[in-house]
Amino acid sequence: MTQLTIRKPDDWHLHLRDGAMLKGVLPHTSTHFARAIVMPNLVPPIVAAAQAEAYRGRIMAALPEGHNFVPLMTLYLTEETDPDDVEAGFRDRLVTAVKLYPAGATTNSQSGVHDIAKVYPVLERMAAIGLPLCVHGEVTDPAIDIFDREAVFIETVLEPLRRRIPELRVVMEHVTTREGVAYVRSQERNMGATITTHHLMINRNAILVGGIRPHYYCLPVAKREEHRLALREAATSGDRRFFLGTDSAPHVDQLKESDCGCAGIFTAFNTLSCLAHVFEQERALDRLEAFASLNGPAFYGLPPNEEHITLERLIEPVIFPKKIRTADGPVTTFDPMVPIHWIVSVAS
Ligand code: DOR
Ligand code: ZN
Repeated sequence: MTQLTIRKPDDWHLHLRDGAMLKGVLPHTSTHFARAIVMPNLVPPIVAAAQAEAYRGRIMAALPEGHNFVPLMTLYLTEETDPDDVEAGFRDRLVTAVKLYPAGATTNSQSGVHDIAKVYPVLERMAAIGLPLCVHGEVTDPAIDIFDREAVFIETVLEPLRRRIPELRVVMEHVTTREGVAYVRSQERNMGATITTHHLMINRNAILVGGIRPHYYCLPVAKREEHRLALREAATSGDRRFFLGTDSAPHVDQLKESDCGCAGIFTAFNTLSCLAHVFEQERALDRLEAFASLNGPAFYGLPPNEEHITLERLIEPVIFPKKIRTADGPVTTFDPMVPIHWIVSVAS
């Protein structure tokens, strides 16, 4: 197959940041994607509906002329979140999901949740009104090895939460392990999971072999090869519970290339080219549309996009720029480390 036309994709997990960075990165998403779930981990975080409304306004103002793009806003859950504010944001069609960051789990998560019991009233309200919870599924206990934090989260936090509030619709974000995939598969209802492009392409060797490579460091950190293979199987299976969330997370090079570099990989730029490569390798190009364009809207109860994009396979590998320039500084783009032959040739 040398050409593939699919419905326009959505990104169900995206970091757009704010200010100059927002202006620099947004066009790379809005060129190819119709909608995205926008993460709220700004400084300060987007904790209230009024802040989400103002942030949405800034995103729309940064959108290039002629781009049709709908940001789907999220609220950052804290132990002080007011269930009434969440419900009002949902009823105003402003808030599409609420994001749970265990405090200290990742970038700007210090205001997140220490004790899940403190947010049960918000979660119960969300279950009652049908508002999904997006979960960063890693424990923060320093005694738990970083490669085990997702599996331990499932056992000690997620499963008890699911038992307590089975009606809550939960998205396990950026699932990275075989255990995560198996858990999602074990859940008949009210459960979905996003998978990133980079976790389908790299394992932990990318970060550590031949030198330390900060541009492959993200959270949850990439795991062993067996886990990458489980993610590939899930993404390409057509199973409606799995959909694309790139977790494209730009940081300027200075903050990545440091003695304590930030977590995050900027993949918005070449995500669809990389995904076509993965699905082609797995002989599943016919299921790319389900993963990128159909399963996500189905979970969120939204119609799939009417527009289409066409991907084309070129004979020669595509040369992607190594960096994009933003007014905050350069941001390194994801290098998939293998030749990629696919480009988006038409997006309407
Ligand atoms: O790698 C990551 N970067 N993982 C996250 O959970 C947060 C994100 C960011 O905001 O930079
Ligand atoms: Zn993220």
